[in-house]
Amino acid sequence: MNLQNYIRLWSYFAGHKIWIGISILLSLVLTIMMLAIPTLSANLINDGITAGDTSVVIQYGEWMLLAAIICGLAFVANTAIAVWAGEYAAHHLRVAGYAKIQTFSHGNIDRFRSSDLLIRLTTDVLTVKNATIQLVLTFPIVPFFLIGTIVLIYHTMPTLLGITFGILIALFLLLIVYLLIVQPKYLIKDERIDAVNHTLREALAGIRVVKAFVNQEYEKQRFRSVAEDLRVSATVPQYMLAYITPANTLILFLGITAIYYTGGMQAIAGTGMNIGDVTAAAQYLIFILIPVYLLSIILPLVSSADASLNRIFEVLDADPEIHPPERPAPFDVAQAKGRVVFDHVSFGYRLPDGTAAKPVLTGINLEIDPGETVGILGSTGSGKTTLVSLIPRFYDVTEGKVTIDGTDVREIALDSLRTVVGVCQQEPVLFSGTVRDTVAYGAPGMSDDAMHAAAQAADAEAFVESIPDQYNSRVARRGENFSGGQRQRLAIARTLARRPKILILDDSTSACDVVTEAGIQDAIGELMQVTTRIIIAQRISSVITADRILIMDGGQIIASGTHAELLRTSPDYQEIYASQLGGIAGAGGVA
Ligand SMILES: Nc1ncnc2c1ncn2[C@@H]1O[C@H](COP(=O)(O)OP(=O)(O)OP(=O)(O)O)[C@@H](O)[C@H]1O
Ligand SMILES: [Mg+2]
Repeated sequence: MNLQNYIRLWSYFAGHKIWIGISILLSLVLTIMMLAIPTLSANLINDGITAGDTSVVIQYGEWMLLAAIICGLAFVANTAIAVWAGEYAAHHLRVAGYAKIQTFSHGNIDRFRSSDLLIRLTTDVLTVKNATIQLVLTFPIVPFFLIGTIVLIYHTMPTLLGITFGILIALFLLLIVYLLIVQPKYLIKDERIDAVNHTLREALAGIRVVKAFVNQEYEKQRFRSVAEDLRVSATVPQYMLAYITPANTLILFLGITAIYYTGGMQAIAGTGMNIGDVTAAAQYLIFILIPVYLLSIILPLVSSADASLNRIFEVLDADPEIHPPERPAPFDVAQAKGRVVFDHVSFGYRLPDGTAAKPVLTGINLEIDPGETVGILGSTGSGKTTLVSLIPRFYDVTEGKVTIDGTDVREIALDSLRTVVGVCQQEPVLFSGTVRDTVAYGAPGMSDDAMHAAAQAADAEAFVESIPDQYNSRVARRGENFSGGQRQRLAIARTLARRPKILILDDSTSACDVVTEAGIQDAIGELMQVTTRIIIAQRISSVITADRILIMDGGQIIASGTHAELLRTSPDYQEIYASQLGGIAGAGGVA
């Protein structure tokens, strides 16, 4: 266990430590009151019942009632503090974690994976919260109770100290057995629950695919197998616990019997012991179980919270890979020309351990003039998306540099850079909201005219206006209530709404028909002040009118030229052309 984690968690309470102090005080009050009850009952028996004095019985009865009320109130107040502390810590971790994730670059997100980040900010935070609540609520009680009961047993019946320690040792041995053998089995069960959740989530998200492939039987088998694993792993620790609980009780009753026997014998022999003391000592012995029981709850919680804290702090301590420039170069977004240059660029994604992997792009030299439209074709995995993601610094080059209007992108303030460069990504993600929210996502408060212009340029205006609520229509999560082509057009409108000078469309019209695609390209030219355009596409028809077409293969640009030039000079282009001939003839673009 890493104590540093808890010290760090504790530091979040700076300024609120008074409440933790009050909580410890309340635990002390609670312990004193609980421990007072057997002493009071001993006096009630000895001085009241045995002596036949009713007024003493009533008086001690009242004291016991008062102690019980104070105990209850202290518990209520302490619970309030514990819940506050747990929620406070959770809130702090959640907000700090989320803020940190917002600073992450694509590389950080690749390595953490978004589903994993989700678990860190939900399940892990929940584990820390529960542990914090239990720690505040019960941890101080453990030493108070242990010391208190031992002192009181010694005070009531010094001869019983040996039995008390014997019982304590036996109970602690059982606790160790529980922590070392049973608890890890619970951890396995937790892992199996995760596996069931994961399988369920994946299958439910892809339920349509399952049906389309008529794969219900396979999915049922897959789920049955993880569910069976969970059943077995959940059963084993509960069986084990079934042995431990009666063993605890047995030890305790043996102890109580020993106390009654020893104390009873002394009382009968008249060696200073009386019946009230024997009863009180027996009650204290029962109380000894409380700290042991609390430890059996707290320790596993603390150890799993420790693992959770490790995972959360890993996020909080991650270094965002893309560092904003310390002293940004002067760069006027409004005056940007849009000249993009790749100068001897190489790039490799980092491996999960943070080390650089084999380069995905090598020796890229490319100059794109302001106003130029460049199309990029290439087989899948050839590096097209990677190439363009270096322009807005989603990733930083491994070697060489990328410049805009002569300034290295690493020297341009990130806000300015990403205002100048508009990227419509290959798999557009739409957030829930209205169509208006979607288009204005990157330009909040934009005018209606600007919104219409963006939608028109993306050829989205017509279909948006054909739906009942038009721009106020609801967009479901991930845009699921729109077709693939409509989603793509909304995503293009969203990118255009920011009026970028350099526009990158990464296969952004793949789900649109050829005519719509051509319409979008013309409209962008007419309606937007985009100067430089980079269009990645699978179809030659998407780039046929481009000023220049690049062909990528294996992370390199292997050919470059206009459609007509490439058709003459590039065997690769001729091959692509031949395979797509039908589509090109349809677009009327045969050279
Ligand atoms: N986030 C990533 N982490 C690690 N490797 C990646 C990542 N993204 C892409 N790659 C690898 O980089 C190479 C180039 O990928 P890239 O996405 O640039 O190809 P692409 O030409 O855009 O392909 P497609 O036409 O399928 O979109 C591939 O081998 C891919 O496996
Ligand atoms: Mg791609």
